Amino acid sequence: MPERHLLDTSGLTAEDIVAILDDASSFLTDESDPRGVRGALAPELAGRSVVLAFFETSTRTRLSFDVAARNLGATTFLFQPQGSSTEKGETLMDTMHTIAAMGCDCIVLRHGVNGTHADVARSTPMQVVNAGEGTVAHPTQGLLDASTLRQRFGSLAGLRICLVGDVAHSRVARSQVDVVHKLGATVAMCAPADFCPTDGPLAALPRLSSIDEALEWCDVISLLRIQRERLPSTLAVDLADYRRRYALTMDRARHHHDVTIIHPGPVNVGVEIDAEVLTCPQSLVRRQVSHGVAVRMAVLRRLLRS
Ligand code: CP
Repeated sequence: MPERHLLDTSGLTAEDIVAILDDASSFLTDESDPRGVRGALAPELAGRSVVLAFFETSTRTRLSFDVAARNLGATTFLFQPQGSSTEKGETLMDTMHTIAAMGCDCIVLRHGVNGTHADVARSTPMQVVNAGEGTVAHPTQGLLDASTLRQRFGSLAGLRICLVGDVAHSRVARSQVDVVHKLGATVAMCAPADFCPTDGPLAALPRLSSIDEALEWCDVISLLRIQRERLPSTLAVDLADYRRRYALTMDRARHHHDVTIIHPGPVNVGVEIDAEVLTCPQSLVRRQVSHGVAVRMAVLRRLLRS
């Protein structure tokens, strides 16, 4: 890892990414082994402390960072904004300085405001790991998606990946595209006009008009949920029309059984995906969760061991 923080994937080279994924693969079981992550791991981070501070909801990221840190022997602490002194008017930065003053080495931070993570990294002595930042970055999600695809395909070079769904409001999309491009994949997107990014690198992606066209073109379909918490209140989505043009139904998945399916979760069953698709043989959605633990172990070990 070139820096003492992981704020974004943009500062990582292809070589950095491969090194992280190689480390992660040493923590993973074979795809056929439902345990996902190997047991009996060395406590290489014993004595290091990691605080998990999530100002937005999370299941996968928060728990997998907790599991990852504990697997390596670190001590974890949970900061919950609900019930904290932020409710009495304490500023975010005062809260961060307070946590740092307790001697925490590292903060795993999710926050909805773009730029918060860099501010915390600049202002406190803690090492900062970005666990989701507004609409701009979710670096370990991008890395775990690449790790999952690498285990399935061996290499991402030449792989055709199509993002389908709410690309515009997705931090996952930004990090995933940055990582898979660096590893040699070709990326397209398929989304209604309101969900197509209008600026930044994603705006330049080739566009496909429907999920049927996407499934004809791609090796991997990367589904994204509608990010309701980030939509303007004036934006109304016609769910029946959305489902007709963009949902991965079981019929569609069956018809394109050679297309691999990923989704960062949480999924909205019956909107962008059918429940049955989640566990069909071409789906890696559950496997992505295991890669989440392994990749976060690799990231924490690189950052905290040094
Ligand atoms: N993929 C992801 O970030 O999931 P959570 O919101 O559950 O952490």
